[in-house]
Amino acid sequence: MMSNNVVWHHTNIKKEDRETLLKQKAVALWFTGLSGSGKSTVANAVEKKLFEAGRATYLLDGDNIRHGLNKDLGFATEDRIENIRRIAEVSKLFIDAGIITLTAFISPFIEDRNQVRSLLGDRFIEVFVDCSLKTCEERDPKGLYKKARAGEIKNFTGIDSPYEKPTHPEITVSTDGEGVEECADKIISYLVTNGYTR
Ligand code: PPS
Repeated sequence: MMSNNVVWHHTNIKKEDRETLLKQKAVALWFTGLSGSGKSTVANAVEKKLFEAGRATYLLDGDNIRHGLNKDLGFATEDRIENIRRIAEVSKLFIDAGIITLTAFISPFIEDRNQVRSLLGDRFIEVFVDCSLKTCEERDPKGLYKKARAGEIKNFTGIDSPYEKPTHPEITVSTDGEGVEECADKIISYLVTNGYTR
């Protein structure tokens, strides 16, 4: 609950000043998709390309954030909602800092992603990492699908917890069919075409 006695402080240096210094337009590339779909892999590849091109970037990754900032959260619906709400706010701060921000969270619910879209406005780019459940389950890089099928993990996305596909993502990459480089290049092209990098 927000206190009534908190007042917003304006800062001398604005986002636009930082963006001018960094010669880029800050944005959140919001990767969403099933566990094992390749969100982190593709986001890492995109960040590497941007970094090598001299861009200021930061990658917020589900597994890592759950070790620190969000270590109090599990995978019940309310916890996933809170997870995404916090990451949206963190992304807003990174955008204010002028940084090209990449987030890799399952973010399974349309309503929550729409909340992020309203918070970040035109700085939000939804990247759907499309991959069939069958392929994700075959990959099973952490052995979690196997555990979920065996009933050892409850509320596992795609098994006994829903994943709501984006209806109008800005970018879709299909890791069933496209390689990591191809997916990363598609995302970089979007940024260049839409003026996010100068
Ligand atoms: S969410 O839904 O956006 O809050 O999830 P996220 O923060 O991205 O965390 C997903 C990673 O946590 C591991 N994990 C689970 N995923 C889904 N469902 C359940 N129950 C679960 N338990 C643990 C899993 O490794 C996810 O990593 P990724 O990188 O998506 O495979």
